[in-house]
Amino acid sequence: RFWIFGVLVMLVLLTIGTMFYVVHDYGLVTGTHSYATDPQAPAREAAFQDGKVVRTGPNAYAVYVVGRAWHWSPDVIHVPEGAEITFYVTSADVLHGFEIQGTPVNLTAVPGVVGTVRYTFRHAGLFRILCNEYCGMFHHAMVARIIVD
Ligand code: CUA
Repeated sequence: RFWIFGVLVMLVLLTIGTMFYVVHDYGLVTGTHSYATDPQAPAREAAFQDGKVVRTGPNAYAVYVVGRAWHWSPDVIHVPEGAEITFYVTSADVLHGFEIQGTPVNLTAVPGVVGTVRYTFRHAGLFRILCNEYCGMFHHAMVARIIVD
């Protein structure tokens, strides 16, 4: 009887503890970042709204990418082979992992923070952007494509 009771108490405590941890953690991430306090916020938010590819030079591109549970915007990116690509990566909600499969590009998409990484694709082909930071139910489905041609 003692052990049955003990296990039940532990289960209840663990469940409540886990729920509290998740709510607290996610509330912290989504609740403390506020674009409203940043004077440059509206312009940046506009650039990131749906994600975009901007030509910044003869052979240079800026790619704005936003992670949201559970997709990347834009979900298809076209860039030319050999161009210098600067990725600006952020998140609209929780932490996401921005990884381009088969390349060293790997950074964390953090709400309220813009991460930057530069890369040049030396070969044409299809590259997948994967989320490598667990972000919820459809984390595994958070895939976008980069078409290099
Ligand atoms: Cu986004 Cu995992």
